[in-house]
Amino acid sequence: MKNWKTTVLAGTALLAWAAAAQAETVKVGVVLTYSGGAAEFGQQVDRGMNLYMKKHAEELGSNKIELIKRDSKRPGGDIAKNAVQQLITRDKVDMLAGFIFSPNAMASAPLATQGKVPMVIMNAGTAWIPSLSPYIARVSFSMWQSGYPMGGYAADKLGCKTAAVGYTDYPPGKDSLNAFKTGFEKAGGKVVDAVPMGGPREVPDFTPFFQRIKDAGPDCLYVFVPAGNHATAVVKTYNDLGMRDAGTMLIGPGDITQDTKLQGMGDGAEGLITMHHYSADYDTPANREFVEAWKAEYGADSTPDFMAVAGWDGMAAIFHVIKTMDGKIDAEGAIEALKGWTYDSPRGPIMIDAETRDIVHDENVHKVIKKDGRLAIEVIDTIKQVKDPCKELKVGKCGQ
Ligand code: PHB
Repeated sequence: MKNWKTTVLAGTALLAWAAAAQAETVKVGVVLTYSGGAAEFGQQVDRGMNLYMKKHAEELGSNKIELIKRDSKRPGGDIAKNAVQQLITRDKVDMLAGFIFSPNAMASAPLATQGKVPMVIMNAGTAWIPSLSPYIARVSFSMWQSGYPMGGYAADKLGCKTAAVGYTDYPPGKDSLNAFKTGFEKAGGKVVDAVPMGGPREVPDFTPFFQRIKDAGPDCLYVFVPAGNHATAVVKTYNDLGMRDAGTMLIGPGDITQDTKLQGMGDGAEGLITMHHYSADYDTPANREFVEAWKAEYGADSTPDFMAVAGWDGMAAIFHVIKTMDGKIDAEGAIEALKGWTYDSPRGPIMIDAETRDIVHDENVHKVIKKDGRLAIEVIDTIKQVKDPCKELKVGKCGQ
C-alpha cells in the first residue's frame, strides 16, 4: 500500500504535468526592416517590443511568446509578402506583428485574411490599412490623425492663408497631402502647390522641390517624408535655402521631428511646429518610466521615438490577447479582444476603436525648443482622443 507521502508526491507531479500540458507557446511572426537604409526603424520597434516583454514577462504565467523575426528590407511589399507567406504556412504563426512601410502591410493584408492570422500593425500609417483585412488592428497612427488637425491648426493658429505640400510619393505621402489639404481648406486656407518628392527608399536632394516652393512663396510648407534621414535632409534643405526668412513656415507630422534625428538637425530646427502623438520629451509618469527603462536597457545616449512606442504598445496589445485567450489564439477571438482595448501608454491614453480596429490617441502640437543645451519637444497644444479623420469623414478609400 502506498503511504501518504507517495500519494502527495504523485498528486503534485500530476498537477505539474497538467499545468505544463496547458501552457501554450504563442508564435508571433515579426516583419520589420532589419537591414538596409530603414534598419534603424526596425530596431526601434524591435527594441520597444523586447523591452515590454522583459518588463512584463511574469504576466503571461505559464504561457510563452516565441518571436519569429523576418527582415522586410525595403518598402516595396514583395519581400514582406513572401516573409508573411512563409510565416503563416511553414512556421504556423499565431499572430503577425510589425510592418514599418505601408506597402509591406498592404501586400500582406490578404494573406492575414486567407490564413486567418491576426496582424498588429506597429507603424505603417496609410489610413485605410485596417480596412484591408478584418484581422488587422493598428497600434501606431494614421497619417490623417496628424495631417487633418494640422491643416486646421495652420489656418486658425499659425496664421497661414496659403500652403504648399511636399510629400514622398507613395500611399502615406498621398494620404498626408489629402489629410492636410482637407483640414486646411475647410478652415479657409488654400493649398497652392503639391509636390511629389521621390519614393521612400532613397533620400532625394530636396533642393529643386523646395526651390520651386520657395519661389511660389506660400505661408506654410507641410512636408511628409518617412522620417529618418529623409527628415534630417528636409530640415537642412529648408534652412540652407533660407525659407524661414523668406516667410515660409515649415510644418508637418512629427515624422519630420523624430526624436532619434532631432539633435542631428542642428539649431535650424528650433521653432519648427509639428503634430504628433509621441515624443520622448513628454513629461508624464508613464513616459518618464518608459524613457528611463529604455536608457537603462539600450544606453544613456539612445532615445525611444514614435516607432519605439508603437513596438511597446503593440506588445502590450499582444499580451492582452494572450492573457484574454489564455494562449489559445484564434483570429476572431484575438480581434474581439482588441476591439475597445484601452491602455495607459507612454504616449498617453490609447484605445483600439471597436468599429475600425484603428488607434485612438491624443495629437499634440510639438514645438522644437532649445532646453538645457539640447533640442527638445515642447507640447503647446493638445487635441484629445483623435479617431482617424479619414474614416470619420469617409474620404476616398476610407469611405468604401
Ligand atoms: C509608412 O510607410 O506608412 C510610413 C513610414 C514611415 C513613417 C510614416 C509612415 O514615418
